[in-house]
Amino acid sequence: MSETAPSAPPASRLPPHSRTLSVRVWRGGESGHYQEFEVPRLESQTVLDVVTYIQRSLDPTLSYRFACRVGMCGSCAMTVNGKARWTCRTHIAKVTDGDSLEIAPLNNLPVVKDLVTDMDAFFDKWAAAKGRFQGTLTRKDNFARVLPGSRQRKLVDEAIECIGCGVCYSSCDVVSWNPEYLGPAALNRAWTLYNDERDTDQVSRLAAVAGDAGCHACHTQMTCTERCPKRLSPTAGIAGLKRAALVAAFKGEL
Ligand code: SF4
Ligand code: SF4
Ligand code: FES
Repeated sequence: MSETAPSAPPASRLPPHSRTLSVRVWRGGESGHYQEFEVPRLESQTVLDVVTYIQRSLDPTLSYRFACRVGMCGSCAMTVNGKARWTCRTHIAKVTDGDSLEIAPLNNLPVVKDLVTDMDAFFDKWAAAKGRFQGTLTRKDNFARVLPGSRQRKLVDEAIECIGCGVCYSSCDVVSWNPEYLGPAALNRAWTLYNDERDTDQVSRLAAVAGDAGCHACHTQMTCTERCPKRLSPTAGIAGLKRAALVAAFKGEL
């Protein structure tokens, strides 16, 4: 975090209708409160720019997380005006038509402090969904080839692009109602491995995702798919897992 804070812009660069933004920012842990800040409006300003300005210029004790600033790492995800988003890729003009903004930590995860959430439960669920590749080759073997045009590879062309940002997980109502639910990201990961012809852990992975807190708990409301910043569809992968689990059950494999 070595960038310098955005300084107040020249008046000519400010939108004519607004000189400052009123920003409500979550402070504290689970039982915190919102604190209000006035932040200068800038052209092409992102939500992450606003958070950075507050931390650098108004209150250095504000905690938040980011790394790449270009939509690659997913670490800057927060709740902005009620919806989970990557803050570095969210322009202020996209989320407010007025002068106010509310920024909070991601939902469905414990708050560590201010805008930082504890992602342990999120990644524990990847592990519970057997989201780890299980191959058979050793470093002495040749690379296993996966043909780009194969049916299984094409089924997960998009899903393998998930970067584990947690936006879908934070947006899923079923996770809110049932904290045991594996959630869209872990199930999306299971779907990619289920279609990986090199992986050897298929039956136990299907068993892991077919339980009460697995794919059958999804209500197919598609909030995860609507909110994913990478435009992936965890819902489609979950539907694929439901079909695969059913077939495996009929075959007596589960
Ligand atoms: S599916 Fe999309 S929203 Fe969910 S963790 Fe992956 S990249 Fe993020
Ligand atoms: S489609 Fe399923 S996983 Fe996605 S938000 Fe809805 S309930 Fe959650
Ligand atoms: S900081 Fe990496 S995606 Fe926003």
